[in-house]
Amino acid sequence: MSTVGKGLEGIAIAESSISTVDGVNSKLMYRGYDVPELSARASFEEIVHLLWYGALPTQQQLDDLKARLASRRKLPDQLLDMIRVTPKDADPIDMLRTMVSALGMFDPLANDGSDEALFEKAATLTARFPSILAAFHRIGNGLEPLDPRPDLDHAANFLYMYHGKEPDKRTTRALETYLVLLADHEFNASTFAARMITSTLTDMYSAVTGAIGALKGPLHGGAPNGVYDMLIEIGTPDKANDWFENAMATKFRIMGIGHRVYKAMDPRATVLREHARELTLSTGNPVWYAISRQIELLALSHPYFQERKLFTNVDYYSVTVLTSLGFPVEMMTPIFAVSRVAGWTAHVIEQFRNNRLMRPRAEYVGPVNSVWQEIEDRTPGVIYIEDDMGNLKPFGDNEEETTT
Ligand code: SDX
Repeated sequence: MSTVGKGLEGIAIAESSISTVDGVNSKLMYRGYDVPELSARASFEEIVHLLWYGALPTQQQLDDLKARLASRRKLPDQLLDMIRVTPKDADPIDMLRTMVSALGMFDPLANDGSDEALFEKAATLTARFPSILAAFHRIGNGLEPLDPRPDLDHAANFLYMYHGKEPDKRTTRALETYLVLLADHEFNASTFAARMITSTLTDMYSAVTGAIGALKGPLHGGAPNGVYDMLIEIGTPDKANDWFENAMATKFRIMGIGHRVYKAMDPRATVLREHARELTLSTGNPVWYAISRQIELLALSHPYFQERKLFTNVDYYSVTVLTSLGFPVEMMTPIFAVSRVAGWTAHVIEQFRNNRLMRPRAEYVGPVNSVWQEIEDRTPGVIYIEDDMGNLKPFGDNEEETTT
C-alpha cells in the first residue's frame, strides 16, 4: 500500500481529457483551448458543448443545444412549491443543494446510466440552476417567479429571471465571461467529489448534490464570502494598508488568495480583475476595485506570500464583478455553481464511461489488541490494549501507565 501527501497534493487520481491546469505557467485549458481566450470569444453554451461533447459546436449544434437548454429552464410546479416553503433566510447554496437533490425525484431518467440519459440530465441540471436561484430570490422578496425567456441565451435569461428586466449587452457579457471562466477546473474538490460519488454508479443528481456540498466550503467555492467581509471591513482604500498589516500580524488567512495548484497568478483572476475595474467605473462603485487591488498588491509584494507562492485566485475579483451585476454575497457561491455544473456533469459522464470504484485505503494509526472491559471497569475515554507481555495498558496519551 503506498501513501500520498496530505490532501492528495500533487496526486493524479485518474485520466481526464476535459480540462487541465498548469499551475506554474498560469495556464488553464478546456479540451486544449486557452480559457482566457475562450472567455473573450465564446458563449457559455459553446463552452457547455465543448465540455460535454469534446468539441466546439457547429451553428446547428449550438442552436440545438440552446433550444434544449431553453426547453428545460422551467421548474416543475412541485419544486416551486418546495422553494416557497424554504426558509427565506436559508443560505442559497443550501437551498440549491436541496433542490438539486429533490429534482432527481421528478426526473424519470434519474437512475438511467445510459449515455443518452446522462446528456439529458446534464442539460436539465445546467438549465435549471439559474431558474432555481432566481425563483428563490424573487419568492424571498415577495415576488412571483418569472417564466424563462426562450429568446434569451443562458446568461441573459438568468439576469432577466433574477432582476426582472432584460440586461444590457455589457452586463450580459460580463456574466458570460464569468460563467465561461469558472465552468471547469480539472479535479478541484467539488469535481473530485462528483467523480468519486459517480464511481459507485449512483445517479448524476446524487453526484451533483455532493459537489455542491463540497463547493460550499470556504477553502473552495465559499471563499467569496470571506473576500466580501474583507471589503466591507476595510471600507475605504486608505484603510487597506492598516488592515493588511493587522492581517499579517494575526496570521489571518486572506480569502481569494492562494491555490493548491496555481503557484503563479490564476489566469482567471487576471481576466476578472479587468472586468472588475471596468464594471466598477460604470456602476459607480470603484471603491471595491481600489481596495481589492491595494490588498492584492500588498500581498503579492510581501515576502510571506512570495515565499509560499500565494497569488490571487478566481474567487478574489469574482466578488466585485458579481456585486457590480447586482448579486448579493450569498448568491456568489451558488452562481459559481451555475457555471461549474457544466464541468461537474461533463466529469460525471466521463467517469461513467470509464469507471472503476474509487476506494482508497487508510493508514491505520488506531489501537490494536484492544481488550473488552465490563462497563463498571471502564475509564472514561480510555481503551486498554494488551502489550506483548500480556499487560494491559491504556492506548494513546496516557500509555505509560500499565495495569495487569
Ligand atoms: C477555488 O482547486 C481548485 O481548482 C479550486 C478552484 C476551482 O476553480 O475549482 O480554483 C476554486 O476554490 C479557489 C481557492 C479558493 N479558496 C480560497 O481563496 C481560500 C484561501 N486560500 C487558502 O486557504 C489556500 O490557499 C487553499 C485552500 C486554496 C490551498 O491551500 P493548500 O494548498 O492546502 O495550502 P495550505 O493551506 O497548506 O497553505 C500553505 C501555506 C500555509 O502557511 P505555512 O503553514 O507554510 O506557514 O500558505 C499559507 C498557509 O497558512 N496560506 C495562506 C493563504 N493560503 C495559504 N496564508 C494567508 N492567506 C492565504 N489565503
